[in-house]
Formats: sequence, C-alpha cells, structure tokens
Amino acid sequence: MEKTKHLEEYWQHIYKDADVTKLGWFENESTPNLQLIEKCNVVKDAVILNVGAGSTTLIDSLLEKGYTNLIANDISSDALSRIKGRIDDKQKSIQWIVDDLVNAKELKNLPQVDIWNDRAVLHFFVEEKDQNAYFKLLNEKVRKNGFVILAVFNLEGAKMCSGLPVKRYNAEMLQEKLGDAYLLKDSFNYVYTMPNGDSRNYVYTLFQKKQVL
Ligand SMILES: C[S@@+](CC[C@H](N)C(=O)[O-])C[C@H]1O[C@@H](n2cnc3c(N)ncnc32)[C@H](O)[C@@H]1O
Repeated sequence: MEKTKHLEEYWQHIYKDADVTKLGWFENESTPNLQLIEKCNVVKDAVILNVGAGSTTLIDSLLEKGYTNLIANDISSDALSRIKGRIDDKQKSIQWIVDDLVNAKELKNLPQVDIWNDRAVLHFFVEEKDQNAYFKLLNEKVRKNGFVILAVFNLEGAKMCSGLPVKRYNAEMLQEKLGDAYLLKDSFNYVYTMPNGDSRNYVYTLFQKKQVL
C-alpha cells in the first residue's frame, strides 16, 4: 500500500501543472495503437481497457471513431482529468478508474474486456513480482478470444523513462510473459519522436487469447 501511495504521488507530480503536449510520451495521434485496435476488428461497443492511459489522445480518437465502451485507467487522477477536460460532453462513454495495476483494487472488480491496451506502462514494472501481478490481472480481465496490445521500449530502447528505470522487451519476451494461451498476431518496432526531438525505440505487439485454453 505504501508503494502505491509513493507511485501515485510520483505520477501526480509529473502531471500536475504540466503541459502534457511536452511530456516525453505525448502523441498528437496514437497511430500505431489505433491501427492495432482497428486490426482487432471488434464491434464498436466492445470493451476497450486502456491501462496507464495518462493523458493519451487515443481516447479522443477512439471516441471519434465511434467506440462507445471505453475504460481509462491510471494511477494518477490528474492524468485522467486532462482527458476529461478535452472530451467534455462525450464522457458518458467512458469509465474512469484510478488504480494501481500491480496492486489492483477497483480493476479487479471489472468484468472481462475485449481489448487490453498498454502503451509505455508495463516497462515501468522492473520487479518480477510487479510483472507477475500485472500479467495475472491481465489474464483475469481479458476474455477468451480477446486482444492484448502491448507497446513498450524494445531492446535498443532507453533504460530510463520519466526518471524511472525500465524493463525492455522484444515480442518473444512478451509472449513468454503471456504464456501459451496467447497467440502473437502482429509485432513491429517503432521509433517514436519525443516533443524535444529525441527518439525512443518501442516494440508494438498484438496478441489474441485463445478460445480453447
Ligand atoms: C509514459 S506514461 C504513458 C501514458 C499513456 N499510456 C500514453 O501512451 O500516453 C506512463 C503512464 O503509466 C501510469 N502508471 C505508472 N505506474 C502505474 C501503475 N502502477 N498503475 C497504473 N498506472 C500507472 C502513469 O501515471 C503514466 O500516465
């Protein structure tokens, strides 16, 4: 619990009073995640859970594309309030959950989801027990035939992000974490350009949970 509080304060501090368009992970449009979500070919009222959503513009884009059943999670309420401020009248389609992914409370009570979407969150969990807690929650929450999108720093990627150490992955390592119940449908490396012009190397992956486990 202490750890959750500490992490929450850390991230709240980052978002408080920040110009979110200057943050080192800001995207005008979350194009690779959007493309992978469209590739899942789910109905517009499919449940899409964005974990560690921060202030992502992905939520705005998904609403524009007609998705009606979105869940935005983050450990920082300030981060989510930035999205709320932008989308205003469309908030009815969104469930907001302030919770710690590796010490989940409210997230545990969610019904299963069709898509689990993570960009730049999982790599912050450098301790194995946190990774285990993350993947346990993911596995409980993704329905059979549901999809998992994981975008994290790849093996050429930076070793730190936002002042914190990160665990870097490739698609095989993510497959190992997810286990045999998940099929890799797509993966690619992607170089993201930060607002300050620096670049960050990501790996994007799309998995589907098998119908028969
Ligand atoms: C680098 S930002 C990425 C934000 C967003 N996914 C994007 O692509 O713009 C990492 C996000 O993860 C959130 N986060 C970090 N640890 C978390 C945890 N244990 N549970 C939930 N969210 C967490 C942070 O508050 C932050 O918004």
